[in-house]
Amino acid sequence: MNSESVNILAIESSCDETSAAVVRDGVVLSNLIATQKVHELYGGVVPELASRAHMQNIVPVVDVALKNAAIDKKDIDAVAFTQAPGLIGSLLVGACFAKAYAQALDVPLIAVHHMQAHVLAHFIDEPKPEFPFLCLTVSGGHTQIVLCRDYLDMEVLGETIDDAAGEAFDKTAKMLGLPYPGGPLVDKYAQQGDPRKFQFTMSSMQGYDFSFSGLKTAVLYFLQAQKKLDADFVSKNLVDICASVQYTIIKMLMNKLHKAAKELKIRNVGIAGGVSANSGLRKALQDAGQEYGWNVFIPKFEYCTDNAAMIGITAYHKYLKGEFADMSISPTARAAW
Ligand code: KG4
Ligand code: ZN
Repeated sequence: MNSESVNILAIESSCDETSAAVVRDGVVLSNLIATQKVHELYGGVVPELASRAHMQNIVPVVDVALKNAAIDKKDIDAVAFTQAPGLIGSLLVGACFAKAYAQALDVPLIAVHHMQAHVLAHFIDEPKPEFPFLCLTVSGGHTQIVLCRDYLDMEVLGETIDDAAGEAFDKTAKMLGLPYPGGPLVDKYAQQGDPRKFQFTMSSMQGYDFSFSGLKTAVLYFLQAQKKLDADFVSKNLVDICASVQYTIIKMLMNKLHKAAKELKIRNVGIAGGVSANSGLRKALQDAGQEYGWNVFIPKFEYCTDNAAMIGITAYHKYLKGEFADMSISPTARAAW
């Protein structure tokens, strides 16, 4: 091994994916993701079960990540983990594992902010965005517009004051009787539906903030009223309901992204997080790019949802700046940037 290379073992365990990656000099050598299927039975992530599944998965996932990267433990130069935000029990599994591993190997520990890592997922593959870069990060727990001035210099310009965009997708799916996580299914059905068939009011928040709880209530009342008139309303109109709700969510997201890009005069614009896997949102960003002359960036599908590669990339930039964590560090469920 070239002694100048930096090999980072990265762990992500903030929610229901146990993931490990090896990143060498900012290049992803391996990225293993074990998705916990157990939650499907409950219609949402059960924190206690998530922690237990992380405990079972973490050692084999790390072993395979090292094997796939063809590197030995002794070649690891630092161990990184997701420190916040997330489910505390899930975060603790990754944090304890990373600390023990780093201590055993006598290498530095690097703590990573999950939301910062979602943004830096854009810096895994080519083409990489130039700074300043504007990123709409949309996941099951967050909806943020982030101004990225440099790798580790980011500012949250606006965020949701209630539900995240992913929750709006998942809760709609639940009301339609679709299994968890419903976002990808709403996306699938929406592709065959008419987005203008049903109209839902869009909330208008100040600045760059979002609110999705009103949409959730509007969809609930709409479905209740329609089902009184026709008990089979949902099955007869599934694709159009999905298309109409998805259209509304995307419009709300894109309106704010456009406002921010215009007011800040930024032309490098991207989307990140689980909801950036949505085909309608991806197309809306491409279309906006054409219309407004933006350079648009969408990470590869495996780097949109939770993954350790994005933790490893962020950790690499922290390593270069010497930003190491103390062994006394604890994870936190919520964390400001
Ligand atoms: O980033 P992520 O994997 O985990 C969190 O940090 O939350 O995001 C998960 C969210 C879920 O709400 C899921 O339904 C949503 O991303 N999602 C989608 C799609 N794929 C994942 N939502 C809409 N369309 C999709 N294709
Ligand atoms: Zn996430």
